[in-house]
Amino acid sequence: MKRWRFLLGFGSETGQSKSIAQGMVDIASEQHQICADMFELDEVDKQFKLEEEPVMVIITSSTGDGEPPSNASKFWRKIRREKNSKLLSHMKYTILGLGDTNYSTFCNCGRVLDRRFEELGATRFYPSAWADDAVGLDLIVEPWLQGFWPALKETLMKLNTSTETSINNLSESINQLNLTQEIKPTVNRQLSSSNKFKSNQDNITYSSTLAEMTTLTLPPKSSHSLSIKLIESSEDKNQLPVDSHYHISALIRRECLTHDTAIKPVMSIELQLSEEEFLFEAGDAIKIVCANDENEVNLLLKRLEWMDKASHQLDISLSPDNTKKSAKIPTYIPPMCSLRYALTNCIDIRSSPRKNLLRLFVDCTTDEDEKRRLEELCSREGSDIYIKYILEEHLSILDILNHFPSCKPDVAMLIEFLPQLIPRFYSVCSSSLDDARSIKFVYSALKFEALNGRTYERFGVCTNWLNNITIGTKILIQTRISQHFRLPLTLDTPLIMIGPGTGVAPFIGFLEHLYLSSKSIAGFDVNNLHTWLFYGCRHRQRDFLFEEQIQMYQQINILKHLFVAASREEGYPFRYVQDQLKANGHELANLIYNRNAIVYVCGDIKTMVRDVRETIVHILQEHSDITNIDEYMKSLETSRRYLLDIWS
Ligand SMILES: Cc1cc2nc3c(=O)[nH]c(=O)nc-3n(C[C@H](O)[C@H](O)[C@H](O)COP(=O)(O)OP(=O)(O)OC[C@H]3O[C@@H](n4cnc5c(N)ncnc54)[C@H](O)[C@@H]3O)c2cc1C
Ligand SMILES: Cc1cc2nc3c(=O)[nH]c(=O)nc-3n(C[C@H](O)[C@H](O)[C@H](O)COP(=O)(O)O)c2cc1C
Repeated sequence: MKRWRFLLGFGSETGQSKSIAQGMVDIASEQHQICADMFELDEVDKQFKLEEEPVMVIITSSTGDGEPPSNASKFWRKIRREKNSKLLSHMKYTILGLGDTNYSTFCNCGRVLDRRFEELGATRFYPSAWADDAVGLDLIVEPWLQGFWPALKETLMKLNTSTETSINNLSESINQLNLTQEIKPTVNRQLSSSNKFKSNQDNITYSSTLAEMTTLTLPPKSSHSLSIKLIESSEDKNQLPVDSHYHISALIRRECLTHDTAIKPVMSIELQLSEEEFLFEAGDAIKIVCANDENEVNLLLKRLEWMDKASHQLDISLSPDNTKKSAKIPTYIPPMCSLRYALTNCIDIRSSPRKNLLRLFVDCTTDEDEKRRLEELCSREGSDIYIKYILEEHLSILDILNHFPSCKPDVAMLIEFLPQLIPRFYSVCSSSLDDARSIKFVYSALKFEALNGRTYERFGVCTNWLNNITIGTKILIQTRISQHFRLPLTLDTPLIMIGPGTGVAPFIGFLEHLYLSSKSIAGFDVNNLHTWLFYGCRHRQRDFLFEEQIQMYQQINILKHLFVAASREEGYPFRYVQDQLKANGHELANLIYNRNAIVYVCGDIKTMVRDVRETIVHILQEHSDITNIDEYMKSLETSRRYLLDIWS
């Protein structure tokens, strides 16, 4: 008998939507016996046809400034341009949008698709939802998924969307769907009278409310489908991850841009590209393929008791007793590599284990108190604790294993359930006019204390890796072409560039580009430029990034106005860039309102982005006759005159 099915389309830039969609495929098949056909949205008209799909679920993020991710742009254009208002009248759908409320275009891609699906006649079978990466996607995703499955089953049943049409099979399918009773495996493991965690009073291993519960609702146990064989004789080869979408570059310079006494060191990096055809422009970002920290990998290998065989090659395959239809060997792990290689280069060992993995850990744990606590952490009743103490504190797999010493998970299980190590983005701070084979960016190194359940001190994965690699190391990179965060075509458009800290990076690229253009393009008159830079640091003597270069641009008239804020300097009147914006409010309002200036905001401080926007609103209200400021700001955004490039 064929199974009930639905179409699951995803659009993902950095892998989060894809990972949620993949999890749904597994749950659909294992827990509900439903087939979810999962495709990138841009596979439309190749792998699936909208006209033929009775039920469609979309999981998509937004990127750029409310744009679709790169694997959903064709789908986006198709849906937006479609004229036939009945095209989707046969379809039931729902959308889970992923976004970030720091963008005024929060979940724009999902929201626009939601509206268009309705306009094209489709009916929502379950409310669409918008998950916010700024506060944690799971706050919305978890409850949304809980309600999703019963709604989907009911819809499929009503639609009779069995791929098999015989009446007998249909009733069998309905029975299979188990509509009346949601699957809620429960457990009532008794607490041992001398619960070893009770005296800990530590939030990861003990909470009195959960400890007192006699019954817990657990997620159903996922089956695991991978098996690994160890090829004893072979040693690891030191290979660069293979991916044809990336270019090979080499690290040729790393420099510290801050004084020794700076609170946060900022480094600059220069990469030499091995190919001519790598295209980038100021305003773009590059994606860097990085690796996990060697010491952290060693700690994990030790904890898994794999140190002695860590460099031997693994043969990863689907286990012979695998029953999971959607099972596949992760494509991001080479078929023959060592566990050390996989943990270093392919797997995100920092990510917090999801609840389905914690559920599997229960069966790999011998101590009863530890088992019970793991059950609590993955139970429905323990959701708040799980979010607060595991997700929000960013506990890694190693932290969890350290808290539960009798847990001895199988390595194949970790390979299957931990996500892929995702490349990191960095804003380019150079111009290709200088040397198209050299690319520069800056980063600030991150460090997280061993606190609040984190059992060891750690550093940002990529920034730590960039700090430690040797000159000459080969690095895989890819450009992320910016749709709008670019210099305008006309020279005399005023540019208001607001970039505290490393947020100044793209503006250094802009200024360098203007400088090199002024030297190479006949008729380029620097007097036509109207460039305003608002920069912020802690102490001008310690962490004023690119100070000399910026001053040089000022001297040669490329940069017309520079305003610096310093947040930790006693007596200095401008603490934040907003203070400098306010002090220049009259001029700025004139530039924006009367002279069509473009405002660029870049940086890593989320509150800064909100505060800058509020300040601009305030300035415009005070110094212009705008009556509807919300509408005006919206028009600035839609006409691409208020542009953001932010990260956390
Ligand atoms: C378009 C774009 C451009 C960017 N440009 C730049 C740039 O020019 N310069 C720059 O420096 N960065 C830039 N970034 C950010 C950059 O991509 C990385 O996110 C940043 O360098 C941190 O990466 P990491 O691997 O070192 O840190 P990670 O290991 O990824 O750690 C950072 C993450 O840790 C999490 N975290 C927070 N608190 C804790 C804690 N207590 N314990 C553990 N984890 C915690 C945070 O959620 C954060 O996501 C940009 C990002 C984007 C999207
Ligand atoms: C460069 C960049 C631009 C983004 N732009 C937006 C945006 O315009 N609107 C929004 O709601 N979220 C935006 N986000 C947030 C992402 O949509 C969010 O982090 C999401 O969880 C990413 O999911 P993905 O990994 O599937 O792409 C942006 C994120 C990045 C890195």
